[in-house]
Amino acid sequence: MTIELIQTTPIEGQMPGTSGLRKKTRVFMEPTYLENFIQATFDAIGGGAGKRLIVGGDGRFFNRDAIQTILKMAAGNGVVEVIVGQGGILSTPAASHLIRLNKADGGFILSASHNPGGIDEDFGVKFNGQNGGPAPEQLTAKIFEATKTITGFKTVPASDIDLNATGTVQLGEMKITVVDPVESYQALMETLFDFAAIRALFAGGFTMRFDAMHAVTGPYATAILENALGAPDGTVVNGKPLEDFGKGHPDPNPIWAKPLMDLMMSDAAPDIGAASDGDGDRNMIVGRGVYVTPSDSLAILAANAHLAPAYKGGLAGIARSMPTSAASDRVAEKLGIGSYETPTGWKFFGNLLDAGKVTICGEESAGTGSNHVREKDGLWAVLLWLNILAVRKQSVAQIVTDHWQTYGRDYYSRFDFEDVAINQANELMQGLRASLSSLAGQTHAGLSVATADEFSYDDPVDGSVSKNQGVRIGFEGGGRAVFRLSGTGTQGATLRLYLEQYSGAGGEIHTDPQTALQNVRDAAFAISKMQATIGRTTPDVIT
Ligand code: G1P
Ligand code: ZN
Repeated sequence: MTIELIQTTPIEGQMPGTSGLRKKTRVFMEPTYLENFIQATFDAIGGGAGKRLIVGGDGRFFNRDAIQTILKMAAGNGVVEVIVGQGGILSTPAASHLIRLNKADGGFILSASHNPGGIDEDFGVKFNGQNGGPAPEQLTAKIFEATKTITGFKTVPASDIDLNATGTVQLGEMKITVVDPVESYQALMETLFDFAAIRALFAGGFTMRFDAMHAVTGPYATAILENALGAPDGTVVNGKPLEDFGKGHPDPNPIWAKPLMDLMMSDAAPDIGAASDGDGDRNMIVGRGVYVTPSDSLAILAANAHLAPAYKGGLAGIARSMPTSAASDRVAEKLGIGSYETPTGWKFFGNLLDAGKVTICGEESAGTGSNHVREKDGLWAVLLWLNILAVRKQSVAQIVTDHWQTYGRDYYSRFDFEDVAINQANELMQGLRASLSSLAGQTHAGLSVATADEFSYDDPVDGSVSKNQGVRIGFEGGGRAVFRLSGTGTQGATLRLYLEQYSGAGGEIHTDPQTALQNVRDAAFAISKMQATIGRTTPDVIT
């Protein structure tokens, strides 16, 4: 088959962010936009010749078209084999697992995660490397450089490949293997958890609702929860992946998974509620009448992980992203294991996991995972919760309350200010940076500032340094406010303000976290001069 070199010119703005390249779908549909990025990636990894790759996505609009383009370009670039999920479907953690299982050279994952899908919504693509994790910063920088100098891309002229049936097809010299997207992921889960114990839990009348939000985890959750573990039919709702996620926002949090939240706070609540996002790497856990914050969930999973077969030997260490609450640090301290604070985004956990320094990682944005893959993993977190519940035979609420009594409680909330004018958002961050050296000792909203700095990360494994990762302000009495700009927003700037207040074991118990966070919030508004710089202090989303 002849390889075509199609001429192209650089396209502005192909800068990969914390999770690959994310843009409006129509941008990706412009001629040669996707092609430029894919070719730049091949150029940055030293070409495709002889390589084996995994390709799949979350099923959103343009997923199938993008996969066809990538397959033809892979053949054009000399790739020898691509393993692709049937129907173009692979959750992000399943893709990470397939890369590792097949010792592939990497993979392309098509997703804009929890962002809405559709022709007028978002699309994305990211490249994961040999370890199954998101490309490290050195590689994304190389890809970006390549997008600026590109002159052409390689492809083969061919008709579309049938992705609907599993099996093997040839595209010129390249072999394409279409696999069931769930099978090997499910097999991996069976090695990690006590399926017999969870099966017994369901057989004993334990009830659950899993909201797949019309996104990629539907088939995974149905196969594992209902078919393998015996949860009643109908446990999984919105289980059919749709190109527009049923016009929803597939982000598992109390705002976007409101129907699930409402159910869990009602008299009809099952024992546990859970949800996952567009590409299956995020999770939400809700007990009957109790929402578990992602920061608390990370800490609770870490404290109880030894109850599941895969972690019975204990954990090597725990890592959390900087804005995530300190709850998991307290668990690491009690267990006498290492705890690590990394910049936002999963790619920083990869080195720690590869080096065996940590076993479990998590982010406040509903991402939790372990060394079984190199991505966060929504269903994994749900299954670990189920395994813990099956062993402890207590309710979610009892486990959470018990955790707070042992470790103290870290009240936590995140405020998102979306579509802020980019210059105003920058002004706010610059203003904060300029004030850092004089903040300590000042009092705002009755709180005295103890520490103020901008987070910079020295990677303990490869020695790389990542600067400007967010402004942190610590207050006397265990409060903290963090400001950072999102790397995944697709419109204007998204300013995130993370609030935290520790109340030690035996401290005052507030049922509403916002009450406990009031002073930290007011101090954060005052210090950042938020009203004056961005013209508002009311966030678009509070989680
Ligand atoms: C957001 C989350 C971050 C997560 C990323 C990808 O990034 O905050 O924790 O890793 O999505 O899912 P942000 O928009 O804040 O840069
Ligand atoms: Zn995601």
